[in-house]
Amino acid sequence: MVKPKIAPSMLSSDFANLASEAERMLHCGADWLHMDIMDGHFVPNLTIGAPVIESLRKHTSAYLDCHLMVSNPLDYIEPFGKAGASGFTFHVEASKDNWQELIQKIKSKGMRPGVALKPKTPIEEVYPLVENETPAEMVLVMTVEPGFGGQKFMPETMDKVRALRQKYPSLDIEVDGGLGPSTIDIAASAGANCIVAGSSVFGASEPAQVISLMRNSVEE
Ligand code: DX5
Ligand code: ZN
Repeated sequence: MVKPKIAPSMLSSDFANLASEAERMLHCGADWLHMDIMDGHFVPNLTIGAPVIESLRKHTSAYLDCHLMVSNPLDYIEPFGKAGASGFTFHVEASKDNWQELIQKIKSKGMRPGVALKPKTPIEEVYPLVENETPAEMVLVMTVEPGFGGQKFMPETMDKVRALRQKYPSLDIEVDGGLGPSTIDIAASAGANCIVAGSSVFGASEPAQVISLMRNSVEE
C-alpha cells in the first residue's frame, strides 16, 4: 500500500511568520509542507518564489512539496533546485510539448518530479508522463480550480483519482483543494494518499487532530 502523506498548504499560514508556522505544522504531525507557487499568469493570484523557499530551507529540513502554478515551469527548475525544494510539481496544461525535458531537468537538480492537472483536464493527459522511462513520480489531482485556498471540494474529480489508482497501485496520488474532515473519506476511498489541506488545518483550533484524522482515513 502507498503511504499517507499529510501536507498542510502554507498558503493558509501567516506568511510573515513562515518558519514558525512550518515548525508548528511539523510539530502537529505534518509529513510534508505544501508550497503554492503562483505567477499571476497561469492563475489569477501571485504568491511566493524561489527566494522564499531558500529562506525557509534555512529553518527546516522538512520535505518541501512545491506546486508550481506557473506558465513557464522550465524557468523555475534551476532556482528551485538551488533554493532547496524537495518536490517540483508542474501543471500538464503548462507543459504541452516539453514535459520530458521538464522531468529530466527536475531530477537532474535533485528534486522529485510531479505533474498536476486542473479539474477540467482529462486524466489521460498525464498517463504518458507516468509511463515515461523517467517518469513523473506523483500526480496531483486538483480538487478545486487552482488559484486560491478556501474553495469548495469538487467531488466529480474523484473519477480521475479512481482511474489513476486502478492503473497505478503504487503511485503517489495527491489531492489539493477543499480537503478536510468532511471530504477526506471520499478522497481516501478513491485512492488518494497525499493530502494537501490549507484552511481546514490552519483554521482548526487543534490542527494536530485534523492531521491525525486525515491520516487515519487514508490508512483505513
Ligand atoms: C490552490 C492551492 C491549494 C490551496 C489549498 O490553488 O493549490 O494548495 O492552498 O487550500 P484549501 O485546503 O484551503 O483548499
Ligand atoms: Zn497546491
